[in-house]
Amino acid sequence: MNYLHQFLFGIYPYIALAVFLLGSLIRFDREQYSWRSESSQVLHTGVLRLGSPLFHVGVIGLFFGHAAGLLTPVWVWDTLGIAHSVKQLVAMVAGGMMGTLALIGLVLLLARRFASDRLRKVTTLRDKVVLLWILGTLLLGLTSIYSSASHMDGHMMVLLMGWAQHVVTFRGDAAALIVDAPLVFKLHLFMGMSLFVLFPFTRLVHVWSGFGAVSYLGRAFQLVRSR
Ligand code: HEM
Repeated sequence: MNYLHQFLFGIYPYIALAVFLLGSLIRFDREQYSWRSESSQVLHTGVLRLGSPLFHVGVIGLFFGHAAGLLTPVWVWDTLGIAHSVKQLVAMVAGGMMGTLALIGLVLLLARRFASDRLRKVTTLRDKVVLLWILGTLLLGLTSIYSSASHMDGHMMVLLMGWAQHVVTFRGDAAALIVDAPLVFKLHLFMGMSLFVLFPFTRLVHVWSGFGAVSYLGRAFQLVRSR
């Protein structure tokens, strides 16, 4: 195992998580007026009505799919009697469907943004980096399905789950588990982790608020009185 591999998959995950958590906290504390999704609907609607829901349904599905698939301990699947090969197939089909939705939505959002003069003028470098970085991550994720299809025994998937679980439980040997993973998986992991690094510096902070808005379901009614 070389130093680059150890750095990227043993140390970089913690750098990414630290930047994500501390960066979000500092941005929320110091820059609340910039904490928004930077909606551009008022400038130009176009295919936003179709592209944005498709993209969001796909990407939120991928988020929860990755969290559940990577972080549920292997013994839970074994106890439930779900074979590794079956879990891999479910991950490939569900991930493939959600990834395709997100990809179609993202392509529409990109086309809308670059086809409109008004939108091009307000699009910053950060917006371009975020959209293109998500596009790259999605394409690599979808490509990895082809690689998975050539070994349906679930072995690679279990190693990737082991990597994620060793990272979040602070076990130092995480990187060693995926040393032999195909390049497409490693690139996908790197791009995915880097999204957490980009997060606090871009409009992606609105994701915190999106999930935070769920708390409104349980909040007290607002009292509106005439006087
Ligand atoms: C958690 C629930 C979420 C909510 C409620 C939400 C809401 C929104 C809203 C209102 C917009 C502005 C759309 C417009 O221009 O009018 C937006 C844009 C965007 N969201 Fe989200 N979002 C959520 C999750 C996510 C996630 C998980 C990601 C990706 C990691 C994401 C990435 C983006 C991007 C890249 C844009 C800009 C699209 C563009 O203008 O080209 N969002 N979101």
